[in-house]
Amino acid sequence: MSESFEVHSSLRDYSVRVGTNLLDCHLRQHPDALILSDARIAAAWPSVSGRHVITIEADESKKNLATVADVIERMRELGANRQTVMIAVGGGIVQDIATFVASSYMRGIRWAYMPTTLLGMVDSCLGGKSSINVGQFKNIAGNYYPPWEIIIDTEFCRTLPQTQRIAGLCEAAKICFADRDEVFDRYLALLSDVGALDRDATLPALVSLSLSTKKKFVEQDEFDQGIRLLLNFGHTFGHAIEATSGFAVNHGVAVGIGILAALQLSESLGICDGTPPRVGQLKQHMLSLLRSVPGLESELAKLSPSDALTRFKADKKHSQDAYALILVDAGGQLERRLLPIKPQIETHIKNAFEYATKVLDEIQ
Ligand SMILES: NC(=O)c1ccc[n+]([C@@H]2O[C@H](COP(=O)([O-])OP(=O)(O)OC[C@H]3O[C@@H](n4cnc5c(N)ncnc54)[C@H](O)[C@@H]3O)[C@@H](O)[C@H]2O)c1
Ligand SMILES: [Zn+2]
Repeated sequence: MSESFEVHSSLRDYSVRVGTNLLDCHLRQHPDALILSDARIAAAWPSVSGRHVITIEADESKKNLATVADVIERMRELGANRQTVMIAVGGGIVQDIATFVASSYMRGIRWAYMPTTLLGMVDSCLGGKSSINVGQFKNIAGNYYPPWEIIIDTEFCRTLPQTQRIAGLCEAAKICFADRDEVFDRYLALLSDVGALDRDATLPALVSLSLSTKKKFVEQDEFDQGIRLLLNFGHTFGHAIEATSGFAVNHGVAVGIGILAALQLSESLGICDGTPPRVGQLKQHMLSLLRSVPGLESELAKLSPSDALTRFKADKKHSQDAYALILVDAGGQLERRLLPIKPQIETHIKNAFEYATKVLDEIQ
């Protein structure tokens, strides 16, 4: 059983298929394709093996131009040409390397993507972006080069650790909340509790809901100039938390904490007063997800709000005189706000980080 839909983009339209047991079927349909994957996936899923497989290490320190160059050399050695189709099977690191390599190998080859992490399935697979680290600068180089096909086999989630599952749920909750309509209610109905993920039908339904919602943002604003920026909700705080923790707190989980910090800032600045019901629901949901991440409370307790503020200030989305942030308005909807760069605002932001380090201890 699978469900499909099309995504329209200025570079090309592409299809998304969501279901179970799609891996073997897809690989059988493309016997000559070159597979790019990560060593752990190749070890755990026997069909991701053979002479056309290139593996990389899915480690943030390897998401760099040296790995791009290695993969290109391996492709040349394996005889890849302009007609070669690449199938990338992995999480966000494989996706970022694959997007960059597929767009540049012999000026661009056809490729398909099979995400293996929940974060990849519900969010990053759609949109066509790549981000590569250069030196100490994370995600500083990149481009847009969507795959021709995205095939999502939710069976991959069976082997995912709890923290990785929660990371994906935080991003899915963010996307569904960003929609102004009742998508977030539908999300909450599916995810009444974290255990609901283990029911067979939940994962494909969740992935479809999240991606069909993201599709609306991406199709309206392919290059991040307007409405798609709302999907950065929680990210400026999140990136700062991720970096301050030395990446001990992973991306999706840091975004979850960042969402709670952004809610707190919206309230302390008086932008969102009196907690509209959907904001209360979001907060409760994020808390229940994040409390099930092993060891998170102690990682957060170690964070320095001043260090986090320093990282926050360096975010590439700010301008010279304003911090650009996604906050919630009085009706509980997301909006992009430009906050003047001055000490009173920075005190509010630092307090939001302070709050984030203790939020999981809060008595409800
Ligand atoms: N291009 C984009 O639009 C975009 C968006 C968001 C994040 N990202 C990038 O994605 C990266 C994070 O990606 P991620 O969290 O998807 O994972 P990842 O690629 O970093 O993988 C995390 C770990 O999970 C393992 N893993 C992957 N699939 C598994 C499975 N099914 N079972 C067991 N283990 C599995 C990997 O081997 C790795 O050890 C970051 O580098 C981030 O910058 C890119
Ligand atoms: Zn994200």
